[in-house]
Amino acid sequence: MGGTLYLVLSSCGGGKGTDESLPAGEPPTPKSDTAQVWVAPESTHGVMNPQPASAASIEKGKSIYLQYCVTCHGADGKAEVPAGIAVKASNLLERTPAQSDGALHWKLITGRNAMLKISAYGISDEDGWHIINYVRTLTKI
Ligand code: HEC
Repeated sequence: MGGTLYLVLSSCGGGKGTDESLPAGEPPTPKSDTAQVWVAPESTHGVMNPQPASAASIEKGKSIYLQYCVTCHGADGKAEVPAGIAVKASNLLERTPAQSDGALHWKLITGRNAMLKISAYGISDEDGWHIINYVRTLTKI
């Protein structure tokens, strides 16, 4: 799977041949290109989840997930539901295991394309961490 992602990345490099002139650092966040892999800024990768993955946290995250996220990502996280297919929602089982909690939380509070930032749903930053604790349980099955 990693191979596919790298392919997608390199094919989005600008189309003019070599990518050697690309500046190092954080890639720009495209406004409307779901084909380009979404990468959280380096600085977010090491941010620790302040919410321990307790049963209570996971339960809280689950109830929020089932209310706000299931429409596009499906109960199983695979996004194999009509709305998810229509907006090209990410398969969370494939995409999240390789990412840190900090990177995922940044994506939740930032949003991209059809994936709105959680504050748009009235979900707090803190609850974003609970949601991540729940999503981690989906990928362990
Ligand atoms: C309206 C449909 C929609 C809803 C509702 C939605 N998402 Fe998404 N989500 C998307 C789309 C589309 C993407 C891919 C965005 C992109 O790459 O441009 C995405 C991407 C993500 C990613 C990043 C995956 C990656 O590629 O790294 C995570 C994590 C995520 N969603 C979690 C959630 C959670 C948690 C909720 C509920 C709070 C939620 N989403 C609600 C459509 C949705």
